[in-house]
Amino acid sequence: MLPYGRQSISQEDVEAVTAVLGTDWLTTGPAVTRFEDDLAAVCGNPAVAVTSGTAALHVAYAAAGVGPGQDVVVAPLTFVATASAAALLGARVIFADVSEDTGNLDPDAAKTALTPNTTVVSGVDYAGHPIDAEPLRALAHEAGALLLEDAAHSVGGTWHGRPVGDLADLTTLSFFPTKNFTTAEGGAVVSPAEELVAGARSFRNHGLVRDKAAQRFPDEGPWHQEVHAFGLNYRLPDLLAALGSSQLTRLAAFKDRRTEIHARYDAALAGVAEVRTPSTRDGADPAWHLYPLRVLDGRRRELFEFLRERGVGVQVNYVPAYWHPVFADLGYRRGMCPNAETYYAQQISLPLFPDLTDSDVDRVAGLVREFFGHSV
Ligand SMILES: Cc1ncc(COP(=O)(O)O)c(C=O)c1O
Repeated sequence: MLPYGRQSISQEDVEAVTAVLGTDWLTTGPAVTRFEDDLAAVCGNPAVAVTSGTAALHVAYAAAGVGPGQDVVVAPLTFVATASAAALLGARVIFADVSEDTGNLDPDAAKTALTPNTTVVSGVDYAGHPIDAEPLRALAHEAGALLLEDAAHSVGGTWHGRPVGDLADLTTLSFFPTKNFTTAEGGAVVSPAEELVAGARSFRNHGLVRDKAAQRFPDEGPWHQEVHAFGLNYRLPDLLAALGSSQLTRLAAFKDRRTEIHARYDAALAGVAEVRTPSTRDGADPAWHLYPLRVLDGRRRELFEFLRERGVGVQVNYVPAYWHPVFADLGYRRGMCPNAETYYAQQISLPLFPDLTDSDVDRVAGLVREFFGHSV
């Protein structure tokens, strides 16, 4: 089965990881520091490496002080973690609809969703296309809230010349194998704000305070470390960070190949009236994680099954987050974000990853054309 996404691992990646096995550090050590520096160079701001994109969201919301009595506005066309990490901290999640072209949080919908208790507005760079950052940042700040960008799909992309990582108060990344580059499992929080970076660093390591000057009981003894605020263990191991730094040297090449494949699908499917190819707004230079095709004649499921039966591992991204029973049980009702629901009903992700060959792309596009009765 041709997967919808997969990692690209080189001999240099293998050597980078095995080199760490011979050092004193397996868990968080010098390779993590280097990886964070490498990430900061890509993102334009300091980065805190963690164990997954989900951990990054949990850490970012915690650093923002999210908790009971607060509202967090979230785009629903996303993996559930964008919403569940805020809900786990006790906040109320308010879903705001997406723009019908990109599937990204619509600034007008986000504005309507604000309440006096909103502390974070969370957009998602759906498929790799950056959010409409300027109006979202402005409306969040006017409401006294922070803008969080879930950039699990989009690291390496830019918006009006600014890198993903320099568009929001908090940016979260995922390095799962299907993503733009990988550390196996892994993620990061990126922020221009010193106190948010410090909060993220603290939460990822149990909230432990080792600096004597900051301790409440510094005379306890030289071994002493103490906790001022709760946190968890979300430390990325050096083994995985070494893979990340090695992968980052090829991020630009990955992006270029993803762009080529995206354009090849666009060209091959341009004349097929039953589908809609993805939109790119002016100012966006996406690092495409997904190729989200939309089926306009109601036969998305049939196309999905047709392709799977022929060995093409298509995927659907995503069921609107509030359709998950955990949100339905809390009273969230279908119909509240019609653009996200329409997008979901039409969407199918075609395979997209750097090692996909042109002939793979042509075969997949040819099967889509065949399904709709067009010449191949
Ligand atoms: C938009 C989005 N946010 C968050 C995550 C969570 O990332 P991870 O799988 O690394 O925990 C994902 C991963 O699927 C995602 O696609």
